[in-house]
Parts: sequence; structure tokens; C-alpha cells
Amino acid sequence: MIAPSILSADFARLADEIAAVNGEPGKRADWLHVDVMDAHFVPNLTLGLPVVESILKATDIPVDCHLMIEDPDRWAVGYAEAGAHNVTVHVEAAKDPIAIAKDLRAAGAKAGLSIKPGTPLEPYLDVLKHYDTLLVMSVEPGFGGQKFIADVLDKARKARELVDTGHLKLLVEIDGGINADTIEQAAEAGVDCFVAGSAVYNADDPAQAVEALRAKAAP
Ligand code: DX5
Ligand code: ZN
Repeated sequence: MIAPSILSADFARLADEIAAVNGEPGKRADWLHVDVMDAHFVPNLTLGLPVVESILKATDIPVDCHLMIEDPDRWAVGYAEAGAHNVTVHVEAAKDPIAIAKDLRAAGAKAGLSIKPGTPLEPYLDVLKHYDTLLVMSVEPGFGGQKFIADVLDKARKARELVDTGHLKLLVEIDGGINADTIEQAAEAGVDCFVAGSAVYNADDPAQAVEALRAKAAP
């Protein structure tokens, strides 16, 4: 699965930018990744629930909300209630991640848990039993266009192994620095869903970029 991140899109032309990755089947985004940043959990500020509500009205691509915010215990469920397909919170910010997962699922969304590059996976294996998605960050969250941190692939491999052996039931997603050069390593590590911001939206033809990434991930 390819999930273009609109962080690198032109926010003044958001509907057109979303339509640009909603073309013919091979070129169509599987998920639309929306980065919500609050200038507290990360040193950047993007958009919040009102904009996500508008995006949900503007597209039928399932929306994948990545909340890089403090106090997701309070705010995450609103994105699920608005109709996001998947809502991901950061384990470093969540006070009660199991309660959040339950709230998200009760509101009809898939629950996602994200870990920053320096956060280990092992302490959260029991928590992950309550989640549908693990989002492995392959850059420090906050900005698009950063360099891929290959060290995090060990965590993706470990998660893949736990899924394949039936210990966990979740989709493994990766976010940060994914492009035509790095996506193959991530695919080899067992990642299911690839977020790509600059590699899609800085391309002349975003739909073509989606198709090219998909071809590299699953040759
Ligand atoms: C970064 C965001 C990413 C970002 C990725 O904190 O979570 O989703 O858009 O951008 P690229 O693909 O350019 O690294
Ligand atoms: Zn993201």
C-alpha cells in the first residue's frame, strides 16, 4: 500500500492535490496520509480537525491521520468520529494507549500506534495487541524531506515476524524518507504500507510517482 502524505502538497490547492493521487487503479493512493502537528509534540504546526473534516468530504480515499500532538487521549477520538479510516497516535505522547485504541475502534476507525526512531518496540508489545497499525517512524517526526534512518528497519522486521507468527495482528506502516531508493529496503523488512510525502508531491506527476513506488515495493 502507498499512502501519499499531503504534508508536501500545496495546501492552497488541497482538493486538486488529493485528486492528483486518485487516478486510474495502479496510480491510485491506497490511503491518504494526513499529518496533524501541534507545535508542541513536534516543532511544527500543520492542520487540525476542521481541515481533516473538509478533506474527508473532498475524497473517497481512506484517510490515515497521523497525530503528532500532545494529549492524544483527549483529541484522537474526534478524528475517528469525523470518519478517518485510520487514526495513529504516538506512544511517546499517549497516557493510556490501550484506552485510546478502544475509543478509536468504538468510533469506527482503525487504531494506529506510532513510535519515533529512538523508541524501542519491545516495551509496547502488549499494547500493540489492541492496535490495527504500527507506524514505524523512519525520520524524526515534524518535517517532510528528511533522510531515511535505515536503523529503524530492525523494528519493522521484528513487527513483521510477530505478525507472521501470529503474536500480533496488525499492519506495518513506515513513514519518513521513503522514495524510489529506500522503499525496497523497507519492503524487504516486511513493511505493508509506505508513506511518501516529498517523493510523491515534489514529483512532476504525483500519480506516476505512486505507481513507480508501488512497482519498487512489490516488483
Ligand atoms: C513527518 C511526517 C511524514 C512526512 C514524510 O513527520 O510524519 O508523514 O510527510 O515526508 P517525506 O516522505 O518527505 O519524508
Ligand atoms: Zn506522517
